[in-house]
Amino acid sequence: MKNKIFIFDTTLRDGEQAPGASLNVQEKVEIAKQLIRLNVDAIEAGFPVSSKAQFDAVQRIADLNESAIITGLARTVEGDIKAANDSLKNAKKFRIHTFAGTSDIHILGKFGNDRYGKTLIDKRKTILEMSCDAVAYAKTFTNDVEFSAEDAGRTDIGYLIEIIEAVIAAGATTVNIPDTTGYTMPHEYGEKIAALKDKVNNINDAIISVHCHNDLGLAVANSLTAINHGARQIECTINGIGERAGNASLEEIVMAMKVREDVWDFKTDIVTSEIFNTSRMVSAFTGMVVQPNKAIVGENAFSHESGIHQDGVLKNKKTYEIMDPDLVGVHESKIVLGRHSGRHGLIARLNEIGYHPDEEELKQIYEKFLELADKKKEVFDDDLRVLMGDEIYVKDYRHELDYLHVNIGTTTIPTATVRIKTEERLVEESATGDGPVDACFNAIDRALNEKFHIESYKVRSVTMGRSAQGEATVRLRDGSESFTGRGVSTDIVEASAKAYLQAINEHIIQADVTELLASVQTP
Ligand code: KIV
Ligand code: ZN
Repeated sequence: MKNKIFIFDTTLRDGEQAPGASLNVQEKVEIAKQLIRLNVDAIEAGFPVSSKAQFDAVQRIADLNESAIITGLARTVEGDIKAANDSLKNAKKFRIHTFAGTSDIHILGKFGNDRYGKTLIDKRKTILEMSCDAVAYAKTFTNDVEFSAEDAGRTDIGYLIEIIEAVIAAGATTVNIPDTTGYTMPHEYGEKIAALKDKVNNINDAIISVHCHNDLGLAVANSLTAINHGARQIECTINGIGERAGNASLEEIVMAMKVREDVWDFKTDIVTSEIFNTSRMVSAFTGMVVQPNKAIVGENAFSHESGIHQDGVLKNKKTYEIMDPDLVGVHESKIVLGRHSGRHGLIARLNEIGYHPDEEELKQIYEKFLELADKKKEVFDDDLRVLMGDEIYVKDYRHELDYLHVNIGTTTIPTATVRIKTEERLVEESATGDGPVDACFNAIDRALNEKFHIESYKVRSVTMGRSAQGEATVRLRDGSESFTGRGVSTDIVEASAKAYLQAINEHIIQADVTELLASVQTP
């Protein structure tokens, strides 16, 4: 019998912290449903206290009432833990995940104020007490409490042993040892886990968890090494997205254990045939492209270019393939839909690629599908994914593009006219610009009577062929906050206008929330 490794997915929390990867509440709920089909053991749904949108997303995911453990992050602060409990309490099973920085660099940097103690030794003592208090408080809400020693990778091993033993005594049922900065080497990290297993007296009362970042490209290697030394939970994300260089990638960890089951005494309960669908959904919703050579889920992961390789694979697949693509849900035949496919054909294909819209949603999707099929003769799986992400799940439109006309040519000044449906009325404006996109943005600014600061603007092709759909991403900046919008169309100018408007919508939604919170707090 192989030992089970618990897969704790943090795509919706640490993954969403990746620069530029923002998800709205509905997108998070759809990803959570897909993670459930993938059969992860735990879903870290967000950091509830950090914003109303985070709180709502965690609550909606908890409300799904599914079998995975739903988790919310909290600092070692009462308000955070209370918010986590409030958002999670309807879940069938939930966990409160509290954390504190434990390396000297974190302690001196984050807890510099004298109220945490004058010396490093005093501060360490305070943090240990705060951590134990937080765990004990979380325990008043649930039996399932995880403690993370942030930056454990660079934490003094003596102090790490002390704090881990103390939080277990206070009631932690999972102790997470994050390599927050992706600094450790696999042998060092393995030794750290082994030392905890050996020296923490009550270690068998908790599960050891690992959480590795990929700054040196070692997140997966570190996570796998750790399980050889006693860890039984791995925290990871789909496509390896996350802070900076990302987190350990779920698909690589799971498939390493599966493909090389001859050398691993461990197994996971992941439904591997759902890996590809999950990867593509996360990529479509976050706008984070999967690099073509990415292991397991990259476009090139199963393609053979050189003549010698192609010849070998034709004779015997195993010459150059260590796993069957079907195993991760990559199927050879590309089913193409078109105008005449009908609702049944559409729903069957959507289900196959991981989407399960309800009747009401399907009506809307079918209309959008027909519009797309009119523009493109062939509708591929990626077109459907993009359609689901950009047209269906972005519902909170305050301003919508109703009409767009652009005039360009080698000798004309680019001019754009836009008509925008706002909550109250239709506004139409025209403007010129350096190019058609700039003219479009200027026309939108005029129509809304505001000027927004564009921090970044990108366009890429998201589907295949000459009639490929273009996806535009616009990031706006307002002080310390940024707002991202995405738009997709076979016409990249239209995609850009939609992306710009979506970013503006996000900005307005955030401003409304801030105003609402201020009015609640003012007596
Ligand atoms: O990387 C890290 O240390 C984290 C913790 C909050 C678990 O994400
Ligand atoms: Zn992390």
